[in-house]
Amino acid sequence: MRVGTHDDSWWSRAAVYQVYPRSFRDGNGDGLGDLQGVIDGLGHLESLSIDAVWLSPFYPSPQNDSGYDVSDPRAVDPMFGTLDDFARLVDQAHERGLRVIVDIVPNHVSASHSWFVEALSSPAGSPARRRFHFVDGKGEAGELPPNNWESIFGGPAWTRVKEPDGSWGQWYLHLFDHTQPDLNWVNDEVRIDALNTLAFWLDLRVDGFRVDVALGLAKDMTYPDLIDPIGMSQSLRFDLDPGSAEAVERRAALANSAIFDRDEIHDIYRQWRSLLESYGNDKMAVVEAWVAPERASRYVAPDTLHQIFGFDFLVVAWDAKSIRDAIQHGIDAVSAVGAPPTWALSNHDSPRVVTRLGDGPEGLARARALALIAHALPGSVYVYQGEELGLCDVEVPDSARQDPVWFRSAGREKGRDGGRVPLPWSGSQPPYGFTDRADVSLWLPQPEHWESWTVEAEGDDPDSMLNLYRSSLALRRSHSSLASEEIEFWSVDDDELVVFRRGADVVVVANTSDQWLPSPVAGSILVASGPVVAGDAGVEIGPNTTVWLQM
Ligand code: GLC
Repeated sequence: MRVGTHDDSWWSRAAVYQVYPRSFRDGNGDGLGDLQGVIDGLGHLESLSIDAVWLSPFYPSPQNDSGYDVSDPRAVDPMFGTLDDFARLVDQAHERGLRVIVDIVPNHVSASHSWFVEALSSPAGSPARRRFHFVDGKGEAGELPPNNWESIFGGPAWTRVKEPDGSWGQWYLHLFDHTQPDLNWVNDEVRIDALNTLAFWLDLRVDGFRVDVALGLAKDMTYPDLIDPIGMSQSLRFDLDPGSAEAVERRAALANSAIFDRDEIHDIYRQWRSLLESYGNDKMAVVEAWVAPERASRYVAPDTLHQIFGFDFLVVAWDAKSIRDAIQHGIDAVSAVGAPPTWALSNHDSPRVVTRLGDGPEGLARARALALIAHALPGSVYVYQGEELGLCDVEVPDSARQDPVWFRSAGREKGRDGGRVPLPWSGSQPPYGFTDRADVSLWLPQPEHWESWTVEAEGDDPDSMLNLYRSSLALRRSHSSLASEEIEFWSVDDDELVVFRRGADVVVVANTSDQWLPSPVAGSILVASGPVVAGDAGVEIGPNTTVWLQM
């Protein structure tokens, strides 16, 4: 089969590296990651044959949700630097041939955004309140929330406010933390403001946007009760095998529902598309929207946006059939409209892939093997910082946890901090070159055992995850068969193998079993994630190993 890619736009085959700015690298010696740190780390990205860097939010924010609670979307938080730093970052990235993608968070703002502050001091029904979802409560005195919607971070999705005169008043909607009020996208002011934000960053020469919670902007403003409010809110959690009946059912329940994936959302994205096109045809947007496969293509139709994250590898079970299904699913979801598929093994919301696949040597072997599968696929691949080092989730002490998920679930869920710990760059003890400042305690503590997981240590080790990523991503860029849009599954007798051909002459064979297995195809080894022996009798593949063969 061939995957569609619209055309030969840069994003259709890009390797994109996600930077989580607080934890990438400290450039000014204050112990926190910042934009100067990103500039200092661009060489690392270049050595990985990365095409674009996606920056998670660096905007002014109280950091209640690590920057996804934005109080001013058109500025840089002083903790990360200045707009001049940002402009330098774009310049230096472009000089190295790297594009820059920034996050846009349109579903909600921070409670400290001037609009929300104004809304709190304005009366019910005022224009300031109409930028949000302020609704009267139920019950005799409005003491009950307007409906049964649940926050995705746990607990109710409504919080009651004290009116300016000190009495209890209306409730406002927040699908996430109570410090992240949802915007009302029926309001033109909200729409215009988002267009201004896009234009602001485009004027600073960014190449694209990652759209946070892209499926959530439109709501049913009759605010009906949901039949399954907890299932709905949990449907955004990445904890289900995508092929499982429960996952399919949950995603189906989202389609055009009261809070997610409503048809009218696409009017918004059509407007965005026109704006992007007014800046030329090389600007893109990738949406975060975990929706049923038959709904995904709406987000990436020729008149809406460009890419939708393929999240199946974030949850896929480690067996050949699940992996084949995930690939097919990822391609089918978008090919009908000619959009390129995308692949991500991890991100700042998910457990680290090594941990998810079993931790220890086995988890690492499987993560290496899954990476070689993903890097061989048509479309673009997203790499989350630290994934290229094979980092595990860190056991963050409860007293150090920051994620609102931890607080809102009253500790029932540990949350996402374990995958957000500052990166190890060099040296043999914390802070491992993340910052020059020795006396600092990092916002999330690094473990003591990262000495051999630093960029420096792995760079010197030919068998490291880092060198595997360097080899596979370089080949992905240079080998014409891997650049092609063609992929063909080979049916094999062994149900523990995933085998597909790419382009004219590359075959990818993944052995998902715990034993050595013979490859059904012969060829010379281009790159392998684990032990492989090529002899006269053919190619033997070690346990939990993927190999790319040149036929
Ligand atoms: C997205 C982000 C996540 C954030 C949430 C609320 O899912 O990826 O980190 O917590 O939106 O903005």
